[in-house]
Order: sequence, then structure tokens, then C-alpha cells
Amino acid sequence: SPVVVAIDGPSGSGKSTVSRAVAARLGLSFLDTGAMYRAMTWWMLANDVDVDDPEAVAIACTKPVIVSGTDAAGPTITVDGQDVSGPIRGPEVTAKVSAVAAVPAVRARLVELQRGCASHAARGIVAEGRDMGSVVFPDATVKVFLTASEQARSERRAAELRAKGLDEATITAMAADLARRDAADSSRETAPLTRAADAELVDTSELTLDQVIGTITALVED
Ligand code: ADP
Ligand code: CDP
Repeated sequence: SPVVVAIDGPSGSGKSTVSRAVAARLGLSFLDTGAMYRAMTWWMLANDVDVDDPEAVAIACTKPVIVSGTDAAGPTITVDGQDVSGPIRGPEVTAKVSAVAAVPAVRARLVELQRGCASHAARGIVAEGRDMGSVVFPDATVKVFLTASEQARSERRAAELRAKGLDEATITAMAADLARRDAADSSRETAPLTRAADAELVDTSELTLDQVIGTITALVED
């Protein structure tokens, strides 16, 4: 059966970068499930849905057509045919995505899409998010839980935003928001961020990207 590599962890632990590189190296598809929650949130904000009202979010969440392109060489995400890869990384979406992701109807819909992506992957998939190993792919071939100190994670995120040219006030606000988002993601009732009992724990605080990519590639090839 096709390979499924499930990678979970908090923001800035290295999930996206590492998962994409491992997928490219092994010829597997790549799925950034955080981008799907962000795309859903972007659509809610663009359509004036009150994202702090879980019932309104639950009713609206069946409407947007969210499509993930899973080529590791160039992953894409569209909502109703529109490329949203830029705007979903902005501060407005980042501030609200945890609230939207906590709504069970949203998760049910996106989990179904995620399993569909995996079933259509030619050779297998590396899927990253918060609940890949615990909920979406309980029988994954390999499960990894990436962590890093909160300081390392917020420094990495800040460096990334600085490279994108965001102003310092926005960067500071987004770094502060990272801790709040982790707490929200870890304490919600549906699919909280937790390490699955059979997931390999990798602390990336003191590791280079190449070291983390090598470690996970070795786990899959084993
Ligand atoms: P996540 O998907 O978990 O939020 P990312 O893959 O987006 O994390 O990584 C956040 C930032 O940190 C990126 O700019 C990435 O290049 C950098 N990064 C990730 N892992 C490491 C590492 N081990 N060492 C140095 N920088 C890293
Ligand atoms: O990029 P970053 O690590 O900051 O976050 P992300 O992976 O893009 O995910 C954004 C948000 O989506 C998270 O803070 C979670 O609230 C939610 N998410 C989730 O609930 N379940 C997933 N499998 C992936 C993301």
C-alpha cells in the first residue's frame, strides 16, 4: 500500500519546510493541511462570516471549493479557483485560523479532502499539520512529532516574515500570536495538537534543516 508520512507539531517547528523536502527527495506528494485551514479562514473573512461564531462557521464551511496541488516541487492552494497562497499567510488569517479550525464541521470537511489527496497520490504522500498522526492517518507508515523551543520557533517565524519584508510591528504581533495559537490548538476539544503514542519525537531546536530532513528520510526508508 502507498506510503503515508504523517508530520505534526506546533508552528515554526519546521513541518512545512521539512515535509516538502522529504517528499521531494523520496518522490512523494506533499500536503500542507495548515494551508487548507488557512484557505477556509481566508474565504470566511472575505465573505463576512463571523469567524468567532462557531455556528455561523459550521453552516458556511460547506461552501468554498478548496483544492490543494500536492506536487512537492510546487504546491498550490486555490479557493473557488483563485490562488490564495499569498493572502493565507497574512496576519488577518493567522489571527483567526485557530478559531475556525476548532469548529468540528470544518475539520470533518477538510479531513475528508485530506484523505482524498492521499488516496490520489501516485506513490504516497507526506502530510503535515496538527492531527495527521492522531486523527487523519492513524495507520500512517511513519509518524513524526516535530517540536522546538518556543524561542527557536518564534525566532524562525520572525526571520521568515522579515525576509518577506513585513514591518517590525507586524512581526512582533505575529510572534506573540504564535504562543496564543499553540495554546488554542493544544486545548481545543476536537483533534487537539498532541503527539500520537506511536509518533517519533524530534526536537529541532538544535538541529539544522538538513539534519531534520535526513533524520525523517531515514525513518521512511527504514
Ligand atoms: P511549520 O510548518 O512547522 O510552521 P516551517 O517549516 O514553516 O514550520 O518553518 C518555519 C521557519 O523556520 C522557516 O523559515 C524554516 O526555514 C525555518 N526552519 C525550520 N526548521 C529549521 C531548523 N531546524 N533550523 C533552522 N531553521 C529552520
Ligand atoms: O504555518 P504555521 O505552522 O504557523 O501554521 P499552519 O500549519 O499553517 O496551520 C495554521 C493553523 O491551522 C494552526 O494554527 C491550526 O489552528 C490549524 N490546523 C489544524 O487545526 N489542523 C491541521 N492539521 C493543520 C492546521
